[in-house]
Amino acid sequence: MGSQLQEQRDAQAIDHPEYVEHEGLKAWVADIAALCKPADVHWCDGSQEEYDWLCEMMVESGTFIRLNPEKRPNSFLAFSDPSDVARVEDRTYICSLREQEAGPTNNWMDPEEMKGTLEPLFDGSMRGRTLFVIPFSMGPIGSPLSIIGVEITDSPYVVANMRIMTRMGRAAVEALGADGEFVPSVHSVGAPLEPGEEDVPWPCNPDVKYIVHFPEDRSIWSYGSGYGGNALLGKKCLALRIASVIARDEGWLAEHMVIMGIESPDGEKTYVSAAFPSACGKTNLAMLIPPKGLDDWKVTTVGDDIAWIRKGEDGKLYAINPEAGFFGVAPGTSYQSNPNAMETIRANCIFTNAALTPDGDVWWEGMDGEPPAEALDWRRQKWTPADDRPAAHPNARFTAPASQCPSIDPDWEDPKGVPISAFIFGARRSNVVPLVYEAFNWSFGVYTAATMGSEMTAAAFGTVGKVRRDPFAMLPFSGYHMADYFNHWLQFGSRLPDPPRIYQVNWFRKDELGNWLWPGFGQNMRVLKWIVDRVHGRASATESPLGWMPSYTDMEWEGLDTVPPATFNGLMSVDRDMWKDELLLHEELFIKIYDRLPREFMLMRELILSGLWRSPEKWNLKDWPEE
Ligand code: GTP
Ligand code: SPV
Ligand code: MN
Repeated sequence: MGSQLQEQRDAQAIDHPEYVEHEGLKAWVADIAALCKPADVHWCDGSQEEYDWLCEMMVESGTFIRLNPEKRPNSFLAFSDPSDVARVEDRTYICSLREQEAGPTNNWMDPEEMKGTLEPLFDGSMRGRTLFVIPFSMGPIGSPLSIIGVEITDSPYVVANMRIMTRMGRAAVEALGADGEFVPSVHSVGAPLEPGEEDVPWPCNPDVKYIVHFPEDRSIWSYGSGYGGNALLGKKCLALRIASVIARDEGWLAEHMVIMGIESPDGEKTYVSAAFPSACGKTNLAMLIPPKGLDDWKVTTVGDDIAWIRKGEDGKLYAINPEAGFFGVAPGTSYQSNPNAMETIRANCIFTNAALTPDGDVWWEGMDGEPPAEALDWRRQKWTPADDRPAAHPNARFTAPASQCPSIDPDWEDPKGVPISAFIFGARRSNVVPLVYEAFNWSFGVYTAATMGSEMTAAAFGTVGKVRRDPFAMLPFSGYHMADYFNHWLQFGSRLPDPPRIYQVNWFRKDELGNWLWPGFGQNMRVLKWIVDRVHGRASATESPLGWMPSYTDMEWEGLDTVPPATFNGLMSVDRDMWKDELLLHEELFIKIYDRLPREFMLMRELILSGLWRSPEKWNLKDWPEE
């Protein structure tokens, strides 16, 4: 290290608070500061005062708009740069030592080459800005299941969001102690300020973005974006991509899953975990309010996006939510679709890319009531309902403290986690996939989850409406070879004395006219009730070519009269021709990851195909007994 660098390092290391005892952490921060050359360094303590100061600073700089305190106390709205509105999957890399470890579904670059690419980008990338050090814990502070990370960022927006989404600040440093392990995570918006240059409300780098993971080093480097999963490095980067690698090595699971409690009228509590791709209804499901007819049931929320799951000493599975907040899709969220989310976001929230109403509140498409007569849209332009563009970006988000959720589970921060009795997998399919079925066994369940496909939305990446395979809803989030991930699941289940059953659901089936066949939202409770009843051995089921299904009379229908038996049977039907095409798409995925594909997957595909051939061409619950 040159002497100039050493001087800078000494100058900036002096600044750390007295409670930081970790020499490795101090040295790492000094190294990154020397590389990024910020104007100054701030160690975040996570206090309310610090949060208020940062928010005020962002109001002054134009990054934040303070919302009307009478409508939305202590809440802020940010508009991103129009080029920086979602995760950037094509700029996301898994830089394992060997390319085969990342697998064909991840972008890969040789780690040394990538470091050579990143170093000049980060060199001076924080000029004119403050470097913030954000120590954070994924999982409750001090839980043996938690992992500590430290994010360095030049974005105060990231600091404020990390304070809601993680346990951040002094407590995390203290949990780390003098020699604890942490995941070093470096983030820069990639927009250094030259002397005298005026800042913009949402600095980012419109041309160069890199979201990079080094799984062997367990480190993260993110450059050029200020948005969500690109920049809040505890979430997708640490809690999914890096954690999935740690989980494989240590024998546990890091998943893109909701964790929810389901309480029966006589107080029996069953926890389930459910995986859906991005923008496919996890937040709605996690906060579900049971409908009329099932209102003596209760749903509680442990998490809405990520689950870490381990086998306990009793052989059961235990899950924690590593996050402390919700980073939820705003459009479509209303008192109609998700009252608990609406209550959660009443105060102390950050909104990103929602529209601003004249009375200083936020608005988005699908919110209750009439649209405002006018608004400022997410591009900071005047908007009226007559405009044929949305006022809020389809991927507009709220950042909200989980503790504010009315349905939050009393044990959501229990350091040992909650016991999981079933896994649910779902995606967005307007046809082909039935409303619900139970896999024949663990292996078939893993097959079903592995071959899941989902129609893409405006909030996600790709061509709207096109089906893409999204195994386990983890395609963008597995830190290693997807086929090794399947093998890990198969092996994990084989070590459980009584593995949870695995279910496939699809809330999104449509009729020929494009109307939803299933009312969804709170009504999904009917499907959950059948699943819980199956878990406890109370509900019967019919064998279908795909798995075990409820027939009409196995479901509770009280309070719902829009789904007569014929509609229900339509929702459950299995069309052989469509499934032949579907199996070819499974094959496409298998060929892509053939080098490490579990051998039994080929056989299971054959078994499903033969089952389809031995069933009626249009398999239907109602028709089955007569065949
Ligand atoms: P990420 O935060 O991106 O991981 O995704 P998420 O799964 O949490 O997304 P979210 O819950 O915010 O998904 C929102 C979308 O799902 C909106 O378009 C909702 O209208 C839709 N949605 C949620 N539940 C249902 C349902 O039961 N039926 C139908 N038809 N749509 C639903
Ligand atoms: C997702 O895309 O699955 C999210 C949002 O949960 S983000 O944090 O932006 O990745
Ligand atoms: Mn997600």
